[in-house]
Amino acid sequence: MRTAIRVETELPAEITRLLRIARAERFDFVERLVREWKRGENRFAETGEMFLCSYVDDALVGFGGLNRDPYSRNPQEGRIRHVYFAPEARGRGLGGALVRELIRRAPPAFTRLRLASEQAAPFYEHLGFLPTSEPKATHALELGGPGEQASDGAPAWGAAAQRRILRTAGDSVVSLARVIEPGQPIRELEAGLFSVLDAGDEGAPYDSRAAGYDRLVSSRWYSQLAWGVPPIVHTEFITRGLTSHDEGWIVDVAAGSCVPSAPAYARTSRPLVVLDRSLAMLRRGIARLRLLHGELPPHVVFLQADANALPFRADSIATVICHGALHVFSTPEAVCAEWLRVLRAGGELYASSLVRGRWFGDRYLGLLHRAGEIAPPRTASELASLVEAGFGVSGQLETLGNFAYLSLRKSDTNGRLEPPSAARRGS
Ligand SMILES: C[S@@+](CC[C@H](N)C(=O)[O-])C[C@H]1O[C@@H](n2cnc3c(N)ncnc32)[C@H](O)[C@@H]1O
Repeated sequence: MRTAIRVETELPAEITRLLRIARAERFDFVERLVREWKRGENRFAETGEMFLCSYVDDALVGFGGLNRDPYSRNPQEGRIRHVYFAPEARGRGLGGALVRELIRRAPPAFTRLRLASEQAAPFYEHLGFLPTSEPKATHALELGGPGEQASDGAPAWGAAAQRRILRTAGDSVVSLARVIEPGQPIRELEAGLFSVLDAGDEGAPYDSRAAGYDRLVSSRWYSQLAWGVPPIVHTEFITRGLTSHDEGWIVDVAAGSCVPSAPAYARTSRPLVVLDRSLAMLRRGIARLRLLHGELPPHVVFLQADANALPFRADSIATVICHGALHVFSTPEAVCAEWLRVLRAGGELYASSLVRGRWFGDRYLGLLHRAGEIAPPRTASELASLVEAGFGVSGQLETLGNFAYLSLRKSDTNGRLEPPSAARRGS
């Protein structure tokens, strides 16, 4: 069986056979397609539009078109229309291949596709379209900007990634798909919580101690007594990261249950990914945000992922925050290298870590290390050397109590990190 999909600028003569069958099946839209084409009302000939035909051994078996959506005021919204396959050609993946080809060819003219079909809902949902309650459409698919598609023509986004639409203050709509690596599988576990890890890979060391950690860290005196740092300093440091740019994506790496960060998240409306390896910690973070803000803020999405292998595209993130977690990683240089990869030019990094430096805190760090909770405790200068190994430039660290704070900016010119003039540790 030889199959082919071709762009047609004239209606193939064989369409009369398919028209006869479609009439018998009461698929009236095929009749309309032929009528409008003959009258010159719609030949899929405007910018970005196309009509594709599917052939098996050179015989026409199906077709489908892409129009600018006549029901939308957005000129970049396309509409999949008049997809029909003869009964003998159904169930062989030919229809899916044709629609995927329409999707693949839609950008750059179209950044979003819509369609109306109750009957074929499962077919389109399998291809990544999501149900919509918009007028004159049953399904929509966000395509994002140019270059956001997988090379095999399949949509680069999972349906789940698209489902979580983040609305920023300016009401521009962006989706997680814009920053997730093309082809990266992603699952929605519950509203606002996604995972890029395999279903069987959901356990993380912090899962079992999430409740205890949360209780301890959220106590008013813990940070001051254990590490010599008032809690407000943590929140202010995170706030600096959140407010470092007016726009662009933020990732809070190893954010855990968001004890110091939850109050700060309201300080921005930029799209924000709260990332951690532990689902139990993330679920506590979600509960904390709901408690604090009454709901999950619309610009925030939670993602279970590994900091050693971030699921984001290179140069896609404007701000990386990693608060109070660098000391947990046994290979911080690998984590640092990931930050450098995903940060865009001009993007900024705000990271902090526990380090040795105070008698009481140092004893406590030793205890945590012996309990297997953290990597061997480092001094600030040892941490600076590790950061240097990860970034290729000397890490700029400021210390307070047992905390070290690192703020760097990715150069606009050479892709390396440099000290940012504006980024400072919280006072
Ligand atoms: C000490 S907690 C810090 C949490 C939070 N940033 C804070 O300041 O309260 C460390 C966090 O790192 C997370 N973590 C550890 N290894 C990780 C990894 N490989 N990838 C992502 N998160 C990780 C843990 O699940 C935990 O939530």
